[in-house]
Amino acid sequence: MASLWGGRFEKEMDSLVKEFNASIFFDQRMYNEDIDGSIAHVTMLGEQGIVTKEEADQIIAGLEVIRGKIASGEIVFNVDDEDIHMGIEARLIAEIGDVAKKLHTARSRNDQCQVDGRMYLRKESKEIMERLLYLESVILEKAEKYADSITVGFTHVQHAQPITVGFVFMAYFQMFKRDIERLMDCYERMNVSPLGSCALAGTTLPTNRHRTAELLGFTAPTENAMDSVSDRDYALEFMSAASISMMHLSRWAEEFVWWNSQEFSYIAIDDSYCTGSSIMPQKKNPDMAELLRGKVGRVYGDLMQLLTVMKGTPLAYNKDFQEDKEGLFDTVDTWKASIQIFANMLEKTEFRMDQIEKQFDKGFLNATDIAEHLAVQGVPFREAHSIVGQMVKVCEVKGCDFEDLTNEDLQAIDSRVTKESLGDISIKACVDARMSFGGTAPAEVLRQVKVGKEWLENLPELA
Ligand code: ARG
Repeated sequence: MASLWGGRFEKEMDSLVKEFNASIFFDQRMYNEDIDGSIAHVTMLGEQGIVTKEEADQIIAGLEVIRGKIASGEIVFNVDDEDIHMGIEARLIAEIGDVAKKLHTARSRNDQCQVDGRMYLRKESKEIMERLLYLESVILEKAEKYADSITVGFTHVQHAQPITVGFVFMAYFQMFKRDIERLMDCYERMNVSPLGSCALAGTTLPTNRHRTAELLGFTAPTENAMDSVSDRDYALEFMSAASISMMHLSRWAEEFVWWNSQEFSYIAIDDSYCTGSSIMPQKKNPDMAELLRGKVGRVYGDLMQLLTVMKGTPLAYNKDFQEDKEGLFDTVDTWKASIQIFANMLEKTEFRMDQIEKQFDKGFLNATDIAEHLAVQGVPFREAHSIVGQMVKVCEVKGCDFEDLTNEDLQAIDSRVTKESLGDISIKACVDARMSFGGTAPAEVLRQVKVGKEWLENLPELA
């Protein structure tokens, strides 16, 4: 089949070239956006008198027929369609005849593929936003439930200080909050229309790009035609936001794997989110958490791929840019699914407080609290730190806890220290007292939950 652009060619494309050149097998995902863009474009052409009103109406009706035929599977694209833009135009000509040949007046595939891409990503961003908001609502619910449930806080994967489970949840809440804000920010820049930029330099025809932007729900047309057809920043920004968000999911997934291990037993991941072993009958593996931990790799890869494609490309459009789609689609699919899987898994996860409590007597979780109590009594913190360090040493030799040290033990370390001066160093007291802004005390966690809820409730929708 001769191509729609074949006028100046004497030979058919080599069949290998045809395959290599085609993007139809992946860009048909954007067929709805391509048709919406064409309808807006031809509506504007009709309003501007570039085509007649009747021609515009005929083309629009034809495009809706094509949309129906693609949706029903009656139209099946093949390599001759080259890309979704050519595919739809060729089918439209076959459907309604020569009038369809007026559709491509004052536009180019260079702006067309970008208007499709931006509309597609707008739609998917909204879906992803919904899922992120759902994840945040699950986190808030759990944070409230576990606001005063004490667990071990780690640094360097060593016991550090006692914290609450709710506090951990609110730490992740902040990460996903930033992800949401990044997505909103990148959505705003994505939401401008390149349609009508044409090949690179605009057109001599009396088009109205503001009108097509308005018809397609964009905030404005892009300012510069050459930039419009060469810009993939919106995809890069989206993939950057996705990469950071997937990194967050990956970190929490890693904690899930650990918490679910026999050594930790902090949680028991729901059966419906685990799988078994083909040989070891007893196994219940946290595969979803592991997959979530691993999926981030492909999203980073997608971002690196497009950054590399774009590097060093001269203005304006280059065919290299066709390589923008598969990675982007993969990122959309991966991010979208990952958020949902994680949110559902989280919702079904209960913490095993009886198991967690067993860890409290390991690792001197209340050491910093003693040092702070001594500091309140006038001992310079650096000296208090050293005193408690020596107490740890004695405890390790005697195989006991701080509470078991005698007054003689303490006085031998420093004359300012007695059992009394240690203060209340029960794990609960240590947590309750961490009331500094952003700290782990239950009351402070509940304040964070309240602020989080208010933020979530007042979040504007994506336009
Ligand atoms: N399939 C192409 C892409 O996705 C559309 C633009 C092609 N433009 C061109 N002048 N060959 O980038």
